[in-house]
Amino acid sequence: MKDFTVENLTEEVVKAYTSKTDSPRMKQVFSSLITHLHGFVKDVELTEAEWFAAIQFLTATGKKCDDKRQEFILLSDTLGASMLVDSINHPKGGAGTESTVLGPFYVPGAPEMPFGGDVRRRHLDAANPCLVTGKVCDAEGKPLAGATLDIWQTAANALYDVQDSDAPEWNLRGQFTTNERGEYALVTEQPVSYSVPTDGPVGDMLAAAGRHAFRPAHLHFLVSADGHETLTTHVFVKGDEYLDSDAVFATKETLVGDFKVCDDAERGKQFGLTVPFVTLAFDFGLMAS
Ligand code: BEZ
Ligand code: FE
Repeated sequence: MKDFTVENLTEEVVKAYTSKTDSPRMKQVFSSLITHLHGFVKDVELTEAEWFAAIQFLTATGKKCDDKRQEFILLSDTLGASMLVDSINHPKGGAGTESTVLGPFYVPGAPEMPFGGDVRRRHLDAANPCLVTGKVCDAEGKPLAGATLDIWQTAANALYDVQDSDAPEWNLRGQFTTNERGEYALVTEQPVSYSVPTDGPVGDMLAAAGRHAFRPAHLHFLVSADGHETLTTHVFVKGDEYLDSDAVFATKETLVGDFKVCDDAERGKQFGLTVPFVTLAFDFGLMAS
């Protein structure tokens, strides 16, 4: 029988998790995970009270999750882990549009909408109507017909539909398909900056660290096309006060879009909008898979 000690425990645990599997990836991941976890505990000389507080925190995080609320994604996002995974898997420098985090508010299965369709399923007085247009191209700049853009965003009251019992189902969500020239068009509201949910353990963590909980205004996009990698991204609103301090570290310079006021009545009429309205023109590039 062996005595487990501070000196030998990490090595013994790594061995227990890696010696009986043939998977090289499992060996690598468990070895690193256990070494870093034990390293952290040793580094800060974690007290029993702190360890128990951490267990309670993770338990509360799990209890806060349901089909509309994903506190674990929020935890990963606010600790910068989601952005690290994103950055490692989608390094800078490619020809395609840069990616960013998915976030906890994506809901699959949004209604399919026609070219120029309107995702405002109610009209809030504070909302600025917004026309979003652009193209989806491959890495060589060739337009992609039949690409899908699944979009979602908060309303002018700074809430996603799934956070707001007064919002109609699928408010500010929809799936659009590019036409034969690779173009898309949709009508929505100009996005506003908003706070990530703070009524759970993640909110307590942000408060304890003295961090604000705001995200700069953005519109979410999941862009997909046959033979191409699906792009998870946002377009941020130029000039937003939180662009330099996003609560989830997910901003990228190339994803900032210029939302401009438009007075072109003819253009508005094409999409059922009266002037003035806001426009965003933004093209996406997808990498071949
Ligand atoms: C979002 O943009 O929807 C989001 C991303 C990360 C955390 C919370 C919200
Ligand atoms: Fe968002």
